[in-house]
This record gives sequence, C-alpha cells and structure tokens, in this order.
Amino acid sequence: MLSLKEMLGRDLDYILAKAAGELDQLAGRHVWFTGGAGFLGYYATLAVHHWNRTQPAGKAIRLTILDNFIRGVPDWLNDIAGGPIQPIRHDVTHPLPVDLADADYIIHGASIASPTYYRRYPLETIDANVNGLRIMLDHARRRTDLLGMLFFSTSEIYGDPPAADIPTPETFRGLVSSTGPRACYDESKRLGETLCVTFAQQFGVRVAMARPFNNYGPGLKLADGRVLPDFVRDALAGRDIVMLSDGSPTRTFCYVADAIVGYLKVLVRGRPGEPYNIGIEAPEISMRQLAGLVTSTARELWGYQGAVVHKASTEAAYLTDNPNRRCPDISKARAELGYAPEVVVDDGIHRALNWYYYNRQEVAA
Ligand SMILES: NC(=O)c1ccc[n+]([C@@H]2O[C@H](COP(=O)([O-])OP(=O)(O)OC[C@H]3O[C@@H](n4cnc5c(N)ncnc54)[C@H](O)[C@@H]3O)[C@@H](O)[C@H]2O)c1
Repeated sequence: MLSLKEMLGRDLDYILAKAAGELDQLAGRHVWFTGGAGFLGYYATLAVHHWNRTQPAGKAIRLTILDNFIRGVPDWLNDIAGGPIQPIRHDVTHPLPVDLADADYIIHGASIASPTYYRRYPLETIDANVNGLRIMLDHARRRTDLLGMLFFSTSEIYGDPPAADIPTPETFRGLVSSTGPRACYDESKRLGETLCVTFAQQFGVRVAMARPFNNYGPGLKLADGRVLPDFVRDALAGRDIVMLSDGSPTRTFCYVADAIVGYLKVLVRGRPGEPYNIGIEAPEISMRQLAGLVTSTARELWGYQGAVVHKASTEAAYLTDNPNRRCPDISKARAELGYAPEVVVDDGIHRALNWYYYNRQEVAA
C-alpha cells in the first residue's frame, strides 16, 4: 500500500502535469473560489499549493477561498492557509466584502451538493446557485479585465435521459422535474447556466460552465450523504454495506484528480457561454458493482469481512427522480480543451479507500 503522502504526491504531480498549460496561465494571477472549502476545493487548493511550492515566487497563484464554512474551516485548509492561499468567511448570497482585492479569475462552486442536504435545505441551495451566482456575474460584468470565470453546474441538469441519449452530450436538453424533491438543485443549476449564457452574450463576460459527472476520491466527507462515502462508512465501521436502491442504477465515476484537471481547463480555455461535460465515459457500473468494488478493496486494505445488504431508506424521497443511468459524452471537452481522464475506477476506488482509511477519524465529522 502506498503511504498517504506518496499517494497525494502522485495525484498532485498528475494534476500539475496534465494541467501544466492552464496552471501556467494562472501563474501570478488572483483566483476567487467560492465554495472552495468543499470536496472539489480540497484537491484544487492542494494542487495550487503544490504548484506554488514548486515554482519561482513570481509564478505563485493567489487563491482566495470564499466559503461560509458551515461545517467549520477544514483542517487541511488551516494547514496550508497563509501567503497566497487565503480563506475568507463569506456567504455568497450576501454582497461581496468591500475590501476584497479584485480577481483575474472567478470559480463559483458554492452550493449544497449532496442530495440528502439539498433536500433538507432547498432554499439555501437555490440561493447559492442563483442569487450567489448573480452577485458574481454582476461583479464580473463590471470587470472588463476579468480573464475567465467557471460556474460549477451539474450533470443532474440532464435529469433521467432515455437510452438513446446515453452517453449524454451537452446538446441533450434534459428531462428534469421542476417540482420533485431534487428540483431545488437541478433547476437552480439550470437557471444558473441560463444566467451565465445571458451574461456572456449580453455583456461579454468570459464565463463557461462545467457539468461534473459523479466525482469521487480524497476530500469527499464520509457524512456527505453521497453513495460512495455511505458505502465506505459502513465498511470502515466493519458492518455490512447497506444499499438503499435495488442496486441497478448505473454511473461512471470520475476520479477527483482527473476532474480537477478538467475544471482548470474549463476555467482557462472554456468558450464563454459554453457548457462542458467533465467526467469519464467508462466503465458505466451499477450501484451493486460499486458496492462489490468497495467490499473487495476494503477487504484488501483493512481485512473487511462484511457483505452487501438491501434496505429501504428512512427518507421517503430518497429515490424519487433518481436517474437510472448517468454516463457522459466528453468528446467536446476532449476536442476543445484537451481533457483526457485516465484513472480507471478500480484504481481510483483503491486510492479513495486508502485516503479514507488513513483519515478515518477526521473525515467522519
Ligand atoms: N462532486 C461532484 O461530483 C459534483 C457533481 C455535480 C456538481 N458539483 C458541483 O460542484 C460544486 C462543488 O461541489 P463539491 O462536491 O465540492 O461540494 P461540497 O458540498 O463539498 O462543497 C461546497 C462548498 O460550498 C460551500 N457553500 C455552500 N453554500 C454556501 C454559501 N451560501 N456561501 C458560501 N459558501 C457556501 C460549503 O460550505 C462547501 O464548502 C458545487 O457547486 C456542486 O453542486 C459537484
């Protein structure tokens, strides 16, 4: 087993190599990252920190993380904060702090991203994706020298596509409920995209959208309510893995190091007003297969002996509007941005479980 330090070092070197051109564009620039204390912020910030340590001082990227830290400031951020990396407590639905230095690039990632939590906090979810984004876009409109902006949309804007639209290209318009329990998330991301397109077309704001497809890996908290951490939580506790569906829905899982490369490419190279699928095309695996992979990997890593059992969720709406299949067509990001994810799911799950095992005390919080 690789030590955690070796594994993280390998992942960060991988991001720096695959996004070398984009990081070079960001060198010496100031980036705001709203929601940067979350899962995707973790590897993105570590990658910037790694870049800053390996480059001459003039090429350091200044990163300001604007987050409401609703779950506290994470330890990893406290560890690397200082110098060019600055966390600022800020709710994106409020006006921007008056003393905030202007950025060259803006990433808007603040949102509630876990289905369990956005169903519990639907208005807060809508507010971050619509009102928070609007504040950023209004600011970007006044900043004619802004070099780029990225809005984190979601693959959930596609809803539940028919078989003919899988793999799903950006041109698929979506089959989404506007009134169901997931609508607060799906529909606010859809409106967010419309806002971005409008600001790009009417005011020339250089904003592009990323549509992430099921990212996983180090940084995704065990208590997040997403499927992989739910399985891992059971496996770490030594109890059977509880599956809350019949195990048949399928997804392709994109390892976080590949995903971060994709987001950097959308930020720097994405065409204004354009959406880009960021994920991996294969393999498309069922929840049953994912649970099997977690079981076998946990057995190898810490001698886990549990099995997979089925139960109904205590949450009535848990499976309502849950898409049956989710698989991206990433040919647009490949062709336009040079995005080329490589980490296959077996390897990525191994790395993720390695990280969970080493961090089992902290990530449970
Ligand atoms: N991880 C994925 O697979 C995935 C898939 C689709 C879309 N996305 C999108 O990517 C973005 C980042 O996702 P993530 O997985 O890192 O999510 P996350 O929940 O781990 O992190 C989101 C961060 O946003 C912050 N936040 C929420 N509301 C805020 C507000 N009003 N003001 C300031 N900060 C606020 C939270 O404190 C948190 O640190 C989100 O917009 C999410 O919807 C992620």
